[in-house]
Amino acid sequence: MVGCGGYLPERIVTNAELAARLQTSDEWIAQRTGIRQRHVAAPGELTSDLAFHAATRALDRAGLKGSDIDLIVLATATPDNTFPATATKVQARLGMTQGCAFDVQAVCSGFIYALATADNFIRNGQARRALVIGAETFSRILDWEDRTTCVLFGDGAGALVLSAQRDEGGGAEERGLLSTHLHSDGSHYDILYVDGGPSSTGTCGFLRMQGKEVFRHAVHRLAEVVDEALAASRLPATSLDWLVPHQANRRIIDSMGRKLGLPPEKVVITIDRHANTSAASVPLALAEAVGDGRIRPGQLVLMEAMGGGLTWGAALARW
Ligand code: UT7
Repeated sequence: MVGCGGYLPERIVTNAELAARLQTSDEWIAQRTGIRQRHVAAPGELTSDLAFHAATRALDRAGLKGSDIDLIVLATATPDNTFPATATKVQARLGMTQGCAFDVQAVCSGFIYALATADNFIRNGQARRALVIGAETFSRILDWEDRTTCVLFGDGAGALVLSAQRDEGGGAEERGLLSTHLHSDGSHYDILYVDGGPSSTGTCGFLRMQGKEVFRHAVHRLAEVVDEALAASRLPATSLDWLVPHQANRRIIDSMGRKLGLPPEKVVITIDRHANTSAASVPLALAEAVGDGRIRPGQLVLMEAMGGGLTWGAALARW
């Protein structure tokens, strides 16, 4: 992991602004979710634009150019077009001509899925330097009349550069990604989905969610997968320096912090300012905490996410 970056659209929509046109309140949203505001893309500002800006910042921090990259894995549930992959548009704008670029779709777990994919490409020698991006414009698939969903999400992008170069050492002291863990269970497809698509309705559709059900699954599945990640490296939760969780609900994040025995200052929180940016939430949080010097080289970082599918996963990294 040699550089990360984030990008948020300029426009901020506060809870108060939503409360002025919906039956909701700042108090309800903040208490139930921890959200105070979200960023929303400008008309004509696309997922690929957000992804490009985040990728450029990550490459700058890594001291690399687009032409140094031979793999882009872009996680999104809100691509610019049904096809081609948004990743190929970003590839062209970055001036990357070698290797390949493609999208992965695992909704809010998308960044963990993309990270696992890129890591496996690198471990197999199929890529040397990869850009892993999570980018979303969820504002485009929200039903802005539905207070149970539209207050929860925001737009944004985050990116991370992975390099095949690893420090000597090995084992749990090795720097870089230690392990990734992915799961899905399609029997819960309909508790979090979009009610449209090219094959079903021919329209884009809107996000629909049974919030309470999703909440229940999130708490259990995330607890299981973080245990799996720690067990794979034979590391106790006490060895963690940072939890960088998916930012869906402050209560889910706090319950994970308590489960791991982590003090609140070791948990990276962005939900208050970003809301849930789906696949962008983990890399945006990572970019913020690395950028402001909280996450330092050699520290142990646990990332986790759960989303539609259902899909969920975790990644353990020595920064
Ligand atoms: O990133 C993918 C994963 N997503 C998640 O993990 C999200 C998981 N779910 C959640 O975060 C929570 O379930 C929500 C924040 C979505 C909802 O919180 P909740 O505590 O589960 O509330 P609820 O759905 O049980 O609703 C409680 C009440 C209801 O009213 P009644 O039936 O008790 O009269 C809702 O109609 O709150 C009402 N309500 C609202 N009130 C004001 C729902 N949305 C709103 C709102 N403003 N925006």
